[in-house]
Amino acid sequence: MAHADLRDFIQAVEARGELKHVAGANWDVEMGSIVELIYREGKHPKPAVMFDETTGYAKGFRNLFGVLGSTWRIARTLGLPEDKTDPMSVADSWYKKSREIRRIPPKFVTSGPVLENSLTGDKVDVLKFPVPRFHELDKGRYFGTAHCVIQQDPDEGWVNCGTYRVMVVDNKTMALHATPGKHGNIMTYEKYFARKKVMPIAIAVGLDPVLWWLSCQTDTPWGVSEYDAAGGIKGEPLEVIKGEYTGLPFPARAEVVVEGECHPGEFVDEGPFGEWHGYYANRGLLPVPEPVIRVKAIYYRNNPIFTCSQPAVPPHTFTLMLAVADSVAIRRRLEAFGIPGVKSVWAHYTGSGGLFNVISIQQLYSGHARQVGLIASQYPAECGAYTVVVEEDIDPSNLDQVLWAMVTRARLDRQIEILPYCHTNNVHPAIPLKEKRATEHAVPLTAARVVIDACRDLSWKNDWYPIARMSPELRTKLLEKWKSVFSGVIG
Ligand SMILES: Cc1cc2nc3c(=O)[nH]c(=O)nc-3n(C[C@H](O)[C@H](O)[C@H](O)COP(=O)(O)O)c2cc1C
Repeated sequence: MAHADLRDFIQAVEARGELKHVAGANWDVEMGSIVELIYREGKHPKPAVMFDETTGYAKGFRNLFGVLGSTWRIARTLGLPEDKTDPMSVADSWYKKSREIRRIPPKFVTSGPVLENSLTGDKVDVLKFPVPRFHELDKGRYFGTAHCVIQQDPDEGWVNCGTYRVMVVDNKTMALHATPGKHGNIMTYEKYFARKKVMPIAIAVGLDPVLWWLSCQTDTPWGVSEYDAAGGIKGEPLEVIKGEYTGLPFPARAEVVVEGECHPGEFVDEGPFGEWHGYYANRGLLPVPEPVIRVKAIYYRNNPIFTCSQPAVPPHTFTLMLAVADSVAIRRRLEAFGIPGVKSVWAHYTGSGGLFNVISIQQLYSGHARQVGLIASQYPAECGAYTVVVEEDIDPSNLDQVLWAMVTRARLDRQIEILPYCHTNNVHPAIPLKEKRATEHAVPLTAARVVIDACRDLSWKNDWYPIARMSPELRTKLLEKWKSVFSGVIG
């Protein structure tokens, strides 16, 4: 694999011209808002943004946003070809590679760069780092937004790494927000709190981008550690250190690691925090009680790089990365069901979590499109989601083409399915606050999902009205003959 850790990776990003440096910004809203502007309004490829000399902090205590905010950075991370970096090509390469990967468990070591500095006892201070407050309406500062939370299943022994946001309460205490259905949530509530057991927890920031890629997507099943999956992608084991306080393995080359514990029955107000879909949709601007993390120890490298994500109205720092990840995860699931004829999948940048997914298929039998749509619709999105099935002449990533298929090929009375009572949780912005519960763990919420079959009816597809679109042969001929006309106009 091309990189040993985040620092190594960032050197390549700098050499490629995809790293932007900003000095002297304030951790309070300014840093996050600069990134928000770049990612929503800036040109592609969006750079990774490194902040230094942040207000109130010594030079060298840096923040890094948008680690995987370009297709080239995603391709480089996953060891994919770096010459074709349009989103569909990267998704396609990742789809092919992901089928071949074998898991490699991590290697335990006794030292590593993350142990260069430590803070324990009275010295514990999570605000030693320029932890941002991201948005104007956020109440707190968020330590964990581009990190992983490390927990161990006490029965099965496997270790989960998941990106669940972590808010600073005070210098020695934080709050954990893992939503229902997430492995970290199940472990917290079912495996520890329900049995009145104290839960050891570790948080690692500034991860190898492969581990970061894995920690924030749903493709690693229950019972499989993201450490093993990361080793598989890298082709070599990740190095981990066994934590002195928790016994949990944490990455030896991370930038910052926290060890701590959560006690059953100990909750604290968390939020409000601007979410990935662009709303304060948990309980609006009201806080929600979430588990307290008592911090026991902090380890960090010299001149640490504190990684961050800026969720906001999309597109934002992690929409592109989740579009690629979700597209491939959906395709793999259809494959696992043995569904033939799937040509490509694209999960559009609607925040994250696969909320508008388009699948192109070659229709092979009656009900094929509906079968694909119904299976794919259950991809674990956190809100209601749309699944649109189109034919193979439509590029799922091209919204013009997708809309054309939707408005011309579907008989709307027959080809739209609304599936009520599917999985969702408190972050759904279309569910009014009065229908949500004080804690999302009380009564599970559900929401509808929509499947749109935008394929021509198979029974008369071959007699369908002719399409007024030039043939591929004529296109090639014209592009060649009229080069001077198309030069600089068609890329
Ligand atoms: C930047 C970012 C922040 C996220 N924050 C949260 C969060 O606060 N809570 C949560 O439950 N999921 C959050 N997610 C989604 C989870 O990381 C994702 O669903 C992941 O698959 C969870 O891991 P698991 O499948 O092991 O539970 C976030 C994802 C990203 C990319």
